[in-house]
Amino acid sequence: MSKKTVLVSGGAGFIGSHVTVELTQAGYDVVIADNFSNCDETNYKGVCAILGKELPLIRMDFCDKAAVEDLFAKYPIDAVIHFAAFKAVGESVDEPLKYYRNNLLSFINILDVARQKGCNVLFSSSATVYGQTDQLPVTEKSPRQPAESPYGNTKTMCEDILRDSVKAYPGVRGIALRYFNPIGAHPSALIGELPRGVPNNLVPFITQTAIGKRACLSVFGNDYPTPDGTCQRDFIDIVDLAKAHVCAVTRMCENKMKQEYEIFNVGTGRPLSVLELINAFEKVNNLKLNWKYAPRRPGDVVAIWADPTLAEQELGWKAERSIEETLAAAWAWEKRLAGK
Ligand code: WQD
Repeated sequence: MSKKTVLVSGGAGFIGSHVTVELTQAGYDVVIADNFSNCDETNYKGVCAILGKELPLIRMDFCDKAAVEDLFAKYPIDAVIHFAAFKAVGESVDEPLKYYRNNLLSFINILDVARQKGCNVLFSSSATVYGQTDQLPVTEKSPRQPAESPYGNTKTMCEDILRDSVKAYPGVRGIALRYFNPIGAHPSALIGELPRGVPNNLVPFITQTAIGKRACLSVFGNDYPTPDGTCQRDFIDIVDLAKAHVCAVTRMCENKMKQEYEIFNVGTGRPLSVLELINAFEKVNNLKLNWKYAPRRPGDVVAIWADPTLAEQELGWKAERSIEETLAAAWAWEKRLAGK
């Protein structure tokens, strides 16, 4: 089989950089495209250091249709993985049009060119599409709920745009991967999460508190109907998550898909509470975290975790790294950023 080329939009970001490493190590040629609107070159340089070679990097905005056409004319792209999107939930509530314009238009442009070229498309969706459900764990058949934010709504809408496009255009097939809570960093500590400003997400806030960048972690809510009163999530290691993309791309490129549009949960199947995660972080890294209880955060679901059976059966993928390995890697990355 000749080498396949995968375009990774948003390939300089947190998830995109880890996916680029795993794809390259699995034998794919990867082209990274990013407009660096929400990251710098740290992760791109880290990717090249891990792989020991320079990967093609195109600075471009996927909202620019001509730039997307040029890119597809220049490289023999077999599959696209689309990450390039705005992702701040709170900001999307304040500036919905910014989110709808960017996240929808970029994806429409990719699909429009992909269908003409006969190219597979993998969309990075989110467990946010399930909202709060009483049936846990959630399977791919669990109903989607109305989104809590414009950001979440762009995930739902892009799933539908992909579903309708593969139905209408014979040239294109698609997979949506619904991520639960991706955390951690590459074991090399050369790539990881780089939130700008005050982190919204739990693990970057924990590591920044531990390193002394933040004074105290607030645990949002201790009166939820869960075993210890804090929310439960399905925290999935970033390297495990990246490997799911390799399995999905291979399935598309080797014509193993059973339908033109497929959806897979990417999670561990293991719920962990916020408190359990903090305890595990303290234990594995042998430190004490400064934290306190704070009021609930608006928009948070009480509990959600995946049923990952379908991904195991169809993709041959399942999460392998322990929460201890993941949290040790997150801490090693934070220390490296701080030069410690
Ligand atoms: C996890 C738990 C918080 C911060 C979000 C997006 C989702 C997806 C991933 C991203 C919750 C609690 C958090 C803090 C806390 N998409 N928490 N103190 O909300 O499950 O998912 O990120 O691009 O769409 O909504 O993840 O890490 O923000 O929160 O107590 O300082 O940690 O209340 O229970 P979430 P999270």
